[in-house]
Amino acid sequence: MRVVSGIQPTGNLHLGNYLGAIRNWVAMQDSLEEGSEALFFLADLHAISQPHDPATLYRGTLEMVAALVACGIDPDRSVLFNQAQVPQHAELQWLLNGTARMGWLNRMTQWKDKAGKNREGQSVALFTYPVLQAADVLLYQATHVPVGEDQKQHLELARDIAQKFNNDFASEDAPVFTLPEPIIPAEAARIMSLRDGSAKMSKSDPSDMSRINLSDDADTMAQKIKKAKTDPEPLPSEAAGLAERPEARNLVGIFAALSGTSVDTVLTQYGGQGFGVFKPALADLLVTKLGPIRDRFVALQSDREALDAILARGAAKARLRGAPTLDAAYTALGL
Ligand code: ADP
Ligand code: NA
Repeated sequence: MRVVSGIQPTGNLHLGNYLGAIRNWVAMQDSLEEGSEALFFLADLHAISQPHDPATLYRGTLEMVAALVACGIDPDRSVLFNQAQVPQHAELQWLLNGTARMGWLNRMTQWKDKAGKNREGQSVALFTYPVLQAADVLLYQATHVPVGEDQKQHLELARDIAQKFNNDFASEDAPVFTLPEPIIPAEAARIMSLRDGSAKMSKSDPSDMSRINLSDDADTMAQKIKKAKTDPEPLPSEAAGLAERPEARNLVGIFAALSGTSVDTVLTQYGGQGFGVFKPALADLLVTKLGPIRDRFVALQSDREALDAILARGAAKARLRGAPTLDAAYTALGL
């Protein structure tokens, strides 16, 4: 198995990013058997497809590396790198541009959503970005690619491109590219704002009290849980009793996700109790689970040399992994 997955290097990471995304990567890395490998990359080349701030882009990349390593991605076991330091991604994208069809890209719903009515005003990169995503995984002969619902169509496109390229330029017994299979993650935790149970916890929320940041210290975490919006009722004894109580459901959901149990199990223990009991227990759990991650994160973030070294080493490994495929693609095309 070779697993390849990318994440945008946005900064200001929070509990939602950890429970909804980063933790799944760590679990995937840890479940791989001997001889299998995961490549995790920061999709910094994607950032230029939309307006972005050059001064903060690399900072976001470094913050993400610090967070991933702090959360358990092991740069010795997995290949952890950023696209921009592995030129083969952009190179292979150009080679695949000869195979990808305009009609295929025109059908991408993300392109349609993001461009809206203003197609003429979009960067070419926004349109061709799914071809870069194809290059991201085909370069490494990925066998499995974890994808959320919104990325399924792009993985289908990568398979179409690989298939057409193999058909047009390779012999049947020596295909250039592996067709990657999607891994649909088990239902991911969706963490809501601490101030509003109907809004997703997000870095874009102007209120810092709405989220637990990966960089929050123990007191800050406890304070935010204490101030979190709730209702006056005691907790129900079963999950069904939370249906009309989004804030309560969110807090219990966070407790369940952090302790690796179900909502019903949490309620077996806390059903009938008020938030005066539940909130301090949740704050303690958060500090226990996130505290060590936070400490590693803060220490790493202030060690620019270590972060640069992790990325440099990851990029060197990625370049080695990608070289044979890129060579084969050039040769197949008569280049
Ligand atoms: P934000 O909403 O803070 O801008 P991003 O859109 O950058 O976060 O998301 C990065 C990753 O974290 C994605 O995989 C996304 O699904 C996950 N994620 C973000 N917010 C949440 C949340 N509140 N609950 C669960 N997962 C989340
Ligand atoms: Na977002």
